[in-house]
Amino acid sequence: MTIAVSGATGHLGRILIGGLKAARPASEIIALARTPAKAADLGVAAREADYTRPDTLGPALAGVDTLMMISASEVGQRVGQHRNLIEAARQAGVRRIVYTSLLRADTSPLASLAVEHVQTEQMLRASGIAHTVLRNGWYTENYLGALQGVLAQGAVLGAAGQGRIASAARADYAAAALAVLTQPGHEGKTYELAGDAAYTLADLAAEIARQTGKAIRYQNLSEAEYAAKLREFGLPAGFAAAIASWDVGAAAGGLFDEGHQLSRLIGRPTTPLSAVVADALAHA
Ligand SMILES: NC(=O)c1ccc[n+]([C@@H]2O[C@H](COP(=O)([O-])OP(=O)(O)OC[C@H]3O[C@@H](n4cnc5c(N)ncnc54)[C@H](OP(=O)(O)O)[C@@H]3O)[C@@H](O)[C@H]2O)c1
Repeated sequence: MTIAVSGATGHLGRILIGGLKAARPASEIIALARTPAKAADLGVAAREADYTRPDTLGPALAGVDTLMMISASEVGQRVGQHRNLIEAARQAGVRRIVYTSLLRADTSPLASLAVEHVQTEQMLRASGIAHTVLRNGWYTENYLGALQGVLAQGAVLGAAGQGRIASAARADYAAAALAVLTQPGHEGKTYELAGDAAYTLADLAAEIARQTGKAIRYQNLSEAEYAAKLREFGLPAGFAAAIASWDVGAAAGGLFDEGHQLSRLIGRPTTPLSAVVADALAHA
């Protein structure tokens, strides 16, 4: 049974390919990559697959039984890109698709992200291909990419207020995908995936302070102030505005969940915030 993984060269895809290699013969795994050279170190066959170039997608999916469709990364461009991939899968006779969506995509206040996932879920239903939807919550790692700046400034900045965030590590979401790909009985299911324990951004600042012994506080800003700060740090205006709006979505509870579907799926608790912070500090 051949499993092809899109986004295989990304953070999540790399972890998943590692897990698949431990569970399946490498000969049954295909990495789909827009730049196959970037997948050379994965230790599985790599095929060129660029969502914006449908001519690459048919050959890439030839002989594939299951497509692990890790959502594309260019927000605003994804509906067309996903349409290309699903249509190519249909034409290639792919029997099953597993797709990474967004936590409670249909009701999420993180509207600018949710809209593309909702449309992709609709396209999957319309395709007639058996599928599983993994509605992934936030990656804990999202908050630790700017750790150097946090340590330098002594502050976590955000606009999430008292919003409780049930994030999980990328490795947890990869483990869920691995479980769904390698165990029977997941067709037609939609899973709402999030971490077992929720925290506020003030809790995150306190955890970084605890582990570093430094004074780190959480500074809550308005959406506009936070977007302006992100622009000052060099982010493009559109991306800065989007990040600030997602924090407002978090303040409204959009990243909170207490269903524990992720830990049930992976058969272990999700990675605690303290462990992700410790790992990020070790690599800062
Ligand atoms: N839940 C969350 O908190 C969260 C956070 C960020 C993103 N996401 C979503 O989850 C996905 C996986 O996360 P991640 O951390 O692994 O993201 P990532 O590291 O940015 O990886 C994105 C992957 O998509 C590939 N890709 C982008 N555009 C493509 C195109 N036109 N054709 C073919 N491949 C393309 C990239 O290929 P290259 O290596 O060639 O760039 C890369 O392999 C993201 O793409 C995004 O949809 C979720």
